[in-house]
Amino acid sequence: MKFIIQQEGLPDQSSVYEVIARAFEREDESRLVNRMRQSNAFVPELSLVAMYEQKIVGHILFSKIIIHNQLRITPSLALAPLAVEPDFQRQGVGSLLVREGLKRSRELGFTSVVVLGHEHYYPRFEFIPTTKWGIRPPFQVPAEVFMAVELVKDSLSGIQGTVRYPDDFFE
Ligand SMILES: CC(C)(COP(=O)(O)OP(=O)(O)OC[C@H]1O[C@@H](n2cnc3c(N)ncnc32)[C@H](O)[C@@H]1OP(=O)(O)O)[C@@H](O)C(=O)NCCC(=O)NCCS
Repeated sequence: MKFIIQQEGLPDQSSVYEVIARAFEREDESRLVNRMRQSNAFVPELSLVAMYEQKIVGHILFSKIIIHNQLRITPSLALAPLAVEPDFQRQGVGSLLVREGLKRSRELGFTSVVVLGHEHYYPRFEFIPTTKWGIRPPFQVPAEVFMAVELVKDSLSGIQGTVRYPDDFFE
């Protein structure tokens, strides 16, 4: 099937809300995206939709975060959420969204991305647990589900610290 990945437009927002709600079977993640669009952490170029014959079948969002310790603040991105319309899952749409999102993130000058997600899904995009670098989430989760990928080689070398999400992330 032919899927096209493109930046979300204003008229796409209600379809994006519905697709995310159907994928997660609840509306928390749809509301998160609505909040993030109003946030300073929002990067419009990194709110992407997957289209199939003029219909939105998937969405991915990357938002600005920081990794901080007592000495330094390192800008990064968080991938969240990723959603594919249930009828279109397991056809490569999620992978297209992740790969295109990582490519565009790199082109925009971002150097790393963190994700809280399935430990069997994200390693195929070279995400690895952040314990490798000593980067911690701001909440308690199993180590294997909190992952990061370097968009620029060694960009996370020596970057120990805690990830800080924008307040808008949390309801
Ligand atoms: C997870 C999700 C985005 C994957 O999208 P997709 O378009 O189905 O993914 P792709 O077709 O690119 O890849 C399919 C692979 O993902 C794997 N996968 C799908 N859902 C998974 C899950 N919940 N946990 C682990 N792996 C999963 C499948 O095993 C499949 O692997 P295979 O091809 O080796 O069998 C989609 O299933 C979805 O929207 N799920 C509900 C919302 C959600 O959980 N989002 C992710 C938050 S981290």
